Amino acid sequence: MRILIKNGHVIDPQNNRDDILDIYVENGMIVEIEKNLDYSGGEIEVIDAKDKLVVPGLIDMHCHLREPGYEYKEDIESGTRSAAVGGFTSIACMPNTNPVIDNQAIVEYIKVKAKKVGVVNVYPIGAITKGLKGEELAEIGELKFAGVVGISDDGKSVMNSALMRRALQYAHMFDTPVIAHCEDITLVDEGVMNEGYMSTYLGLKGITRAAEEVMVARDVILSEVTGAPIHIAHVSTEGAVAIIRHAKARGVKVTCETCPHYFTLTDKVVDGYNTNAKINPPLRTEKDVEAIKKGLKDGTIDVIATDHAPHHIDEKNVEFNKAANGIVGFETALALGITYLVDKGILTMQQLLQKMCVNPANILGLNKGSLGINKPADIVVIDKNEEYVVDVNKFQSKSKNSPYHGYSLKGTVHFTIVGGKVIVRQKVLL
Ligand code: DOR
Ligand code: ZN
Repeated sequence: MRILIKNGHVIDPQNNRDDILDIYVENGMIVEIEKNLDYSGGEIEVIDAKDKLVVPGLIDMHCHLREPGYEYKEDIESGTRSAAVGGFTSIACMPNTNPVIDNQAIVEYIKVKAKKVGVVNVYPIGAITKGLKGEELAEIGELKFAGVVGISDDGKSVMNSALMRRALQYAHMFDTPVIAHCEDITLVDEGVMNEGYMSTYLGLKGITRAAEEVMVARDVILSEVTGAPIHIAHVSTEGAVAIIRHAKARGVKVTCETCPHYFTLTDKVVDGYNTNAKINPPLRTEKDVEAIKKGLKDGTIDVIATDHAPHHIDEKNVEFNKAANGIVGFETALALGITYLVDKGILTMQQLLQKMCVNPANILGLNKGSLGINKPADIVVIDKNEEYVVDVNKFQSKSKNSPYHGYSLKGTVHFTIVGGKVIVRQKVLL
């Protein structure tokens, strides 16, 4: 179990590393990071990383693995394999499973199953309310004790403000972050896409941006009055970015994430009733995309998460109104970040990594996201300049619901190493 990664361009924002270096890994841990290391002799895998980037394994703080309950869409095995080829070595999965992750037994189940069949580190997120019903708080202490890294009713908002306030107070006591899905369902009504020119043109019922922004504002206020940190999930509108920017300036303990589809796509992609572009929150407009990019650049948006949301073809191959919300995300996220943010000069590679490994690790309290000596060797080797065409039929995910099929992107994952174990070698999943 010895690996030597030679001559790669190592970028590790946490430790201020940005240089051509070698990395030596033994027994799953990083032992040495220096120039010109020589560990020849004995059994060792030498990886030639010349002209490649060697970076900390990516961390996705928002994904859906669908197990237990919806294994026909994805399961822990297929989901973690999909994550590994996307360059992720740690992922946090949302509780909208069946049963819901609202008790110790389900948390245990996911942890045990992930150890057994998962190829990356899996961290469950528990529910805020029992059964995600928004009526009664889940046992937050029990969930934390069982090992959740945060709580969320993702997919649904906690509409009752008093309940949300109490959730923040409890979560703060147990030192666990609350991840808020912000969507006022009374404003969504029967909407299925962003409200605007495209919804009118397509004759589909629109969702006002206010549905997201009202709840972002409420949750920021509740964070401020309770003193409890809050993390806003999948930010998609210009107004939401503005509210969060303003709150941060006031010192509110708010962090937030966006997803690749909110800085790469607009509601124009829905044209033709493309259900692979149906997602919640919905794809917005050019103005929103520009605001998301600005928020990423000025640091208002801390994290890029995938919101990997696999759905079966039969749930997408239906009328737009009836189609499920969601996009598979693991296998395109890094390349979308490189192609649309780094190559366009919006973020440096260091900043992209800050948002795809360092910040999510810090928000969830994981001791991950950097290439530290004596730390588990979670490392990816990527070619930032290699172009490829997205083909959903090659995805490791069980589901293929991606609007990026046929897109030319830049950035490929050549090696994924998790705890010193090679999971992807020369772009091939083992
Ligand atoms: O599009 C979405 N899909 N948004 C969510 O909030 C939930 C997710 C899912 O679980 O499919
Ligand atoms: Zn989600």
